[in-house]
Amino acid sequence: MGKRHGTRRPLGIAFAASLAAAALVGGCDRSPKGIPVPGGDPDRGKVAIADYGCGACHVIPGVRGAHGMVGPPLTQFARRAYIAGEAPNTTRALVQWISSPQSIEPGTAMPNLGISDARARDIAAYLYTLR
Ligand code: HEC
Repeated sequence: MGKRHGTRRPLGIAFAASLAAAALVGGCDRSPKGIPVPGGDPDRGKVAIADYGCGACHVIPGVRGAHGMVGPPLTQFARRAYIAGEAPNTTRALVQWISSPQSIEPGTAMPNLGISDARARDIAAYLYTLR
């Protein structure tokens, strides 16, 4: 019985597969940090963050008066692996979180603030400058 299923593929294949997986993981890990958000402008984002009062709930480096402790600090956000522990920290998920956090985590203490997709892109672009 064991013999029938027993012919293992050579190690080389497993090795190649793990290399490919490592390359994929590396790619995902890099994308939020270096690559700018398409259509997003970090300078506009910084202004929008102040306008929407994100700083009432978050510590946000570089934004005046952003010392809130209701939510987690957004310090070094570009290095964060997950958004609110719910979604992997990708550009797409971050834009969605900013415009509609309740759609990712219903009942979260972060309210939907009615932010447009374009404005959310600007804000995401700013958050990804925080390393
Ligand atoms: C009323 C308070 C409040 C406001 C206003 C608010 N947030 Fe949040 N935010 C939270 C809370 C609470 C969490 C944690 C949610 C969770 O983990 O479920 C959070 C989570 C986040 C996260 C994920 C943080 C992490 O560590 O994973 C980001 C990014 C974020 N908020 C960005 C923003 C931005 C940008 C704005 C302004 C447009 C904003 N927030 C406004 C309360 C707020």
